[in-house]
Amino acid sequence: MKKYDIAVIPGDGTGPEVVSEARKVLDAVGELEGFSCDYQVYDFGGERYLKTGEILPDSSIDELRGFKNILLGAIGHPEVKPGILEQGILLKLRFALDQYINLRPVKLYAGVETPLRDKGPDDIDFMVVRENSEGLYTGSGGFLKKGTADEVAIQESINTRKGVERCLRYAFDLCRQRGREKKLTLCGKTNVLTYAFDLWQRAFNEVAEEYPDITTDYGHVDAVCMWMVKNPEWFDVIVTDNMFGDIITDLGAMIQGGMGIAAGGNINPQGASMFEPIGGSAPKYTGQNVINPLAAIMAGQMMLRHMGEYSAAERVEKAVVTVLRDKLKSVAAGKMGYTTEEVGDLVVNNL
Ligand code: IPM
Ligand code: MG
Repeated sequence: MKKYDIAVIPGDGTGPEVVSEARKVLDAVGELEGFSCDYQVYDFGGERYLKTGEILPDSSIDELRGFKNILLGAIGHPEVKPGILEQGILLKLRFALDQYINLRPVKLYAGVETPLRDKGPDDIDFMVVRENSEGLYTGSGGFLKKGTADEVAIQESINTRKGVERCLRYAFDLCRQRGREKKLTLCGKTNVLTYAFDLWQRAFNEVAEEYPDITTDYGHVDAVCMWMVKNPEWFDVIVTDNMFGDIITDLGAMIQGGMGIAAGGNINPQGASMFEPIGGSAPKYTGQNVINPLAAIMAGQMMLRHMGEYSAAERVEKAVVTVLRDKLKSVAAGKMGYTTEEVGDLVVNNL
């Protein structure tokens, strides 16, 4: 039987609860499809940091490099100063493992409520490809005269031709694979960020020549936000830089029904990729068995696709669709009409 080695970082807050449901579903679908998963669990997160002062040892990064697939629960602890764990674990792994794509499906499923009036599942179904290794996230910059009246703070956006181009190629390929409208929208700010997005735009136009079957489009990030609300049906695949991608994917999560369902992948097509529910650790719901595990289950579903287990991925998505449509009262924590574990069981029973 095929066996997959998967590194698991349950993390903080409700992370362990949702990861355990995702594992339940992966195991069940594996049984049906003829593969098994072997999990290696890593205890990075706030608890370990508070106990030992250790965030993410270099030796663990090297170990994680040996996995093709990593499943992450959530990072963020109420007793740890914001930023420490996000930078020390999540961002550190993205960079160290060169997960240069952040892939975020924005798909509204039947039975899920969107805040967009008059929009339904046919209107909201696109993907955001966020550059995940450069831009404003590299930590390049610094202070001058910190703490004085003359203080200067500089935060630089790094955009390399290679980094931008590999992201664009991924987006064009994805757009082709999806085989839907075959429309790729570059989201930028060429009217103001005249260096960074000049490079993006030129690279975009050049790469586009190799993909004559793909229609290209461009939108400034502010307008893209507007259209995501007003006309989300215009989008098929959106490609953008790290910072804009961070912002528009939270908007995307909201229009698809909220964090209860939003999943993402940090992808290194040649290396170790990491899949996560994007909702955070939700400390106030910790240990109550009320958090919605579907985002983590969908992160597992993205991982299955990434492994090439398409039929298993399809099964999981269909089961989630059924559960959302026929069972859950709401996707919000505590309002589902079922416990976290019961929602996991419902998915398993519908595989
Ligand atoms: C995300 C998150 C992270 C980011 C935070 C937690 C550092 O918002 O994955 O979108 O900004 O990338
Ligand atoms: Mg974000």
